[in-house]
Amino acid sequence: MHRNTFDDGVVRLFLLAAAVWGLVGMSIGVFAAAQLAWPALNFDQPWLSFSRIRPTHTFGVIFAFGGSALMGTCYYVVQRTGHVRLALGRLARFTFWGWQLACLLTVITVPMGFTQNKEYAEAEWPIDLLIAVVWISFGTVFFATLARRRIQHIYVANWYYGAFIIAVGLLHVVNNLVVPVSLTKSYPIYSGVVDAMVQWWYGHNAVAFFLTAGFLGMMYYFVPRQARQPLWSYRFSIVNFWALISIYMWAGSHHLLYTALPDWVQSVGMAFSLVLLMPSWGSAANGLLTFNGSWRRVSVDPAAKFMVVALVFYAASTFEGSMMAIKTVNSLSHYTDWTVAHVHSGSIGWVAMITIGSLYAMAPRALGRAEMHSTAAIELHFWLHTGGLLLYVVSMWVAGVTEGVMWRTTLADGTLAYSFLESLEAIHPLYIVRFLGGLMVVSGMAVMAWNLWHTAAQARAHLIVPVPIPVPDPVVHQVPTPLPATA
Ligand code: HEM
Ligand code: HEM
Repeated sequence: MHRNTFDDGVVRLFLLAAAVWGLVGMSIGVFAAAQLAWPALNFDQPWLSFSRIRPTHTFGVIFAFGGSALMGTCYYVVQRTGHVRLALGRLARFTFWGWQLACLLTVITVPMGFTQNKEYAEAEWPIDLLIAVVWISFGTVFFATLARRRIQHIYVANWYYGAFIIAVGLLHVVNNLVVPVSLTKSYPIYSGVVDAMVQWWYGHNAVAFFLTAGFLGMMYYFVPRQARQPLWSYRFSIVNFWALISIYMWAGSHHLLYTALPDWVQSVGMAFSLVLLMPSWGSAANGLLTFNGSWRRVSVDPAAKFMVVALVFYAASTFEGSMMAIKTVNSLSHYTDWTVAHVHSGSIGWVAMITIGSLYAMAPRALGRAEMHSTAAIELHFWLHTGGLLLYVVSMWVAGVTEGVMWRTTLADGTLAYSFLESLEAIHPLYIVRFLGGLMVVSGMAVMAWNLWHTAAQARAHLIVPVPIPVPDPVVHQVPTPLPATA
């Protein structure tokens, strides 16, 4: 009996962790937003200064919240699509506790001032070692489960999860090659412009493989589930997979336009960023068209609403990214809040919304319940999140373009028309709007935590019933029809 059930214990742990870290990481983001509007909130305390709070926020949301959601859904999806129980259960539990320990250590040590000064890779080398061990274990559990699958075909979501695991492991190791001088201090083995290039090869591909490929894996499983029909085009999803993973790696230099990096390297980054729009929109379109014929679901199912808006923001932020990679556009957007608007349209819009939609879809099943405790609360969460997202992104777009235009305006004699301080004064009200938007997003996360808590409490009251292996699922087990012999 035991062997015939899915191992959802570790999935539930990651689900809980994702909800907690989402609340914590985004609350720290709101605090950072408040500090930019009212700098006195630094309280003259080094550990509360913006420079330490900001990386604590980025680590908290990307790796603690996003990472927990990715690992939990990955374990959930690989079992269902392979019709097999998770391999190496104890190692899977180790990945949960190891990951939580690494996250906890990072959000404690970064505010204390221990940092490698590498964006999105701030944690010092002992934590990096722990992350590497956990990551290899995560890959071992995933690929061992895949190897044991009872369905011959490997569903596309697993391709994305697999690419995410391999690429992130590679990025983490290469970017964190350092020479330690003490337990809390190390120096990178790279120097000068090579260090910058390695950092942005890592930073950009963290976006590509952590914030995109992993979440596309989630999307390709949970969108057909929620739309209750097969993917619009299975074959198109495979084409987009290979295009995405072969193009993304070459685009990182768009973060270093107009720097000491050789000009041709910058141009390669710009060209690949433009081509990248095709597989990005390909996946967004495939996801949205999957709702064709079942758009009614969107009006009755708030989890599906989250997914649809996530796909719209995936399309919007990737279009924006490709445009920002054009050198002339980047000369206006770089260093301004336009970049911050782009980041959050991708992260609060795409990443957070596909995660939240998938968690609402997965939680009742993983908890052995028919549905979440309150659908009205999911609906409320949706409107709080979408409202907050729009306030955040629109205010930062306006702020970014205002800054860019003010900084480049010159007088007839060639001197700058505005000082930096004047541009800050002009955008100050927009920083307050962003803070309010963030507050709405976090309130939504609190509603989700409340809803999950009650769903889990009901599950405990009814004692969790193991979920039996279902019959093959037509939604996710569609195999592309073979091409004719002449093709
Ligand atoms: C309540 C929601 C959120 C608020 C209020 C918020 C706020 C902020 C603030 C104030 C900054 C600093 C901007 C600056 O340096 O000028 C920031 C940066 C950042 N946040 Fe968030 N954030 C939120 C959610 C998220 C989420 C969900 C993610 C990712 C999943 C995310 C990823 C990032 C990243 C990657 C940066 C660095 C941006 C850059 O370098 O341009 N944030 N956030
Ligand atoms: C076709 C896809 C995309 C392209 C071509 C692209 C391109 C760009 C460009 C040109 C920048 C500005 C670099 C600068 O001026 O410093 C940027 C920044 C950024 N983008 Fe994207 N982007 C894409 C998708 C996304 C998505 C979906 C997300 C999030 C989920 C994202 C997250 C980020 C982050 C975090 C940064 C800020 C990095 C930093 O300076 O700290 N991007 N992107």
